[in-house]
Amino acid sequence: MKRSLRIATLSALVIAAATTAYAQLKPEDAIRARQSIMRVVALNFGPLSAMAQDKIPYNKDLFVASATRLEAVWSMDASRFFVKGTDKPVAGSNIAGFTDVKPEIWNNPLKFKDAFDDNTAAIAKLAAAARSGDEAAMKSAVGGVGKACKGCHDDFKVK
Ligand code: HEC
Repeated sequence: MKRSLRIATLSALVIAAATTAYAQLKPEDAIRARQSIMRVVALNFGPLSAMAQDKIPYNKDLFVASATRLEAVWSMDASRFFVKGTDKPVAGSNIAGFTDVKPEIWNNPLKFKDAFDDNTAAIAKLAAAARSGDEAAMKSAVGGVGKACKGCHDDFKVK
């Protein structure tokens, strides 16, 4: 195959892959994406919550690293992956066979967006507190994030 043709074919494949990812995301891939982001969010929130409640000793480096990562992972915007029609597991797919969404997400999209934005704001506040290095402000900002997680889960996630 000629070099130029090879490059053209390769570009076409790359474009096709990108289009598949963003325009024709399979339901199981959307479910997997949002659950994966949530899991990594929780991995970073765990130590913050434990430190704020004195369940593990406060460690400034761990706190700042976790808050910074939490903000980065949340910025991946899991809301993109709550695609209409993905409220049921897809048999034989790559997901564990479950999704815990409530249909409320699509019946009340503005409320869902508010819950999402509340958490974005709470995480921004936490990250700012972490940058300030003020231990009391850092710990109290964790509570705001915990409330925002719970607020959304109460309304939009099956227990
Ligand atoms: C705007 C709503 C919303 C916010 C805010 C939110 N979540 Fe979620 N979360 C969901 C929904 C809905 C699901 C269920 C997704 C599914 O099963 O498809 C979920 C699922 C999860 C899961 C289970 C993932 C899995 O493997 O199935 C964890 C863990 C989680 N969230 C942690 C958190 C933490 C920690 C926070 C706060 C830092 C948070 N979530 C904030 C809506 C939210």
